[in-house]
Amino acid sequence: MSTLWSGRFDTAPDAATFAFGASFHFDRRLFEDDVTGSLAWARALGRAGVLTPDEAARIEAALAAILARGRSEPAFVSGPDEDVHSFVERLLVEELGDAGRRLHTGRSRNEQVSVDLRLYLRRRIPALQRGVAGVVAALAAQAHAAGDALMPSFTHLRPAQPILVAHFFLAHVAALRRDWDRLAAAAAEADALPLGSGAIAGTSYPIDVDAIARDLGFSRVVPNSIDASSDRDFAASFLYAASLAMVHLSRVAEDLIIFCGDEHRFFELSDAISTGSSMMPQKKNPDPLELVRGKTGRAIGHLVGLLTAMKGLPSGYNKDLQEDKQAVFDAEDTLAGSLAATAAVVSGLSLNRPRTEAAASGLLLATDVADYLVGRGVPFRRAHEIVGALVRKLVAEAREFGSLSLEEWRGASDRFDADVVERVTPRVSVAAKRTPQSTAPDAVGRALAEADQWLRAAG
Ligand code: ARG
Repeated sequence: MSTLWSGRFDTAPDAATFAFGASFHFDRRLFEDDVTGSLAWARALGRAGVLTPDEAARIEAALAAILARGRSEPAFVSGPDEDVHSFVERLLVEELGDAGRRLHTGRSRNEQVSVDLRLYLRRRIPALQRGVAGVVAALAAQAHAAGDALMPSFTHLRPAQPILVAHFFLAHVAALRRDWDRLAAAAAEADALPLGSGAIAGTSYPIDVDAIARDLGFSRVVPNSIDASSDRDFAASFLYAASLAMVHLSRVAEDLIIFCGDEHRFFELSDAISTGSSMMPQKKNPDPLELVRGKTGRAIGHLVGLLTAMKGLPSGYNKDLQEDKQAVFDAEDTLAGSLAATAAVVSGLSLNRPRTEAAASGLLLATDVADYLVGRGVPFRRAHEIVGALVRKLVAEAREFGSLSLEEWRGASDRFDADVVERVTPRVSVAAKRTPQSTAPDAVGRALAEADQWLRAAG
């Protein structure tokens, strides 16, 4: 195999070590971006007068043909080459001879791989954002379907306060919308043209980098060639965005694993996404949710892996940076698959309203009882103590607020009146909330309408 650098050496590379360093088996995924970048470089060399108009035109035509063939015939993008850049250049030289050998003038693979990965992320991130919007749409549809149904909220995984089921689904919507924004920010960070940086010091040909940026749709040019040759911040930002999105999907998964379990039965999983047991006939398992939760570690691992690869690098390109690509590709695949699976699971949920509403009542109304006393002039800290003592008694006697006689209420505090029974219910509790981010039905209705509007804009 001849390489792009064989002229410097007496002997052929050691096969095993060459294979160790080769990246074509994974960076073939940058094929389209590599050709796109080379097309722009050929045009720039033409504009700079480094290539004759005829040479530039022939290189462009040959690259366009290579691109078309690679798109229609994925198996074509393979060979003994060191990396995707060497592959494209070999094909070009095979086609054009010396004219093809002129394409790499003034350019280095160091900047080439950077421009490729930036183009790749810019091209692929929108699909991930559509995946995020798909999960948001499924959650919003569940929020609509839940109407005014109630469920308990939890802190420390113990019943806390009544909420609308819609409020629960919209909580996950809020987190995923931040992921959508973070993915957009990662794409914006990748949106800088590194070409013109050469191997490290810049290029000595009169290349109009602003024109290349316009040609490739980059909004700006990198500020420093040394920094550009080893800057992978945009890849790390992407991995962070992907990791946090996975963390959020993992939390959706964990909630649903718990809430669909036999102990709660708040929701029922659709049969289509559930799995059975080879031994226990009664089982209906949430495997896709467990996989999403389990795969989250991969994305986080890739982020930590890249940061670790980056942290000790001296200035300029170092081969360590080749590790960026498998991290990015696997995080992308992991997130895309997890988004699709989560959307399918959420879409198939059915609400078990009798179960959620029964669970939304009982001692989790204690805060509302305390608020009742506050409404009658009792300082909150004192009200908390009074209700705490009442709860202690009810727990000991295995009873709930609804079973208390007026005498018993009065025994706890003479501020209690007969109206406490209708003033302290899950529905009243929810309706009593006043803030825009609360579970108050009006607030939730507005949040849902706003989510629908966001979905129309995002989709
Ligand atoms: N495969 C290399 C990478 O992914 C391309 C850049 C190679 N540059 C070099 N100086 N060896 O980083």
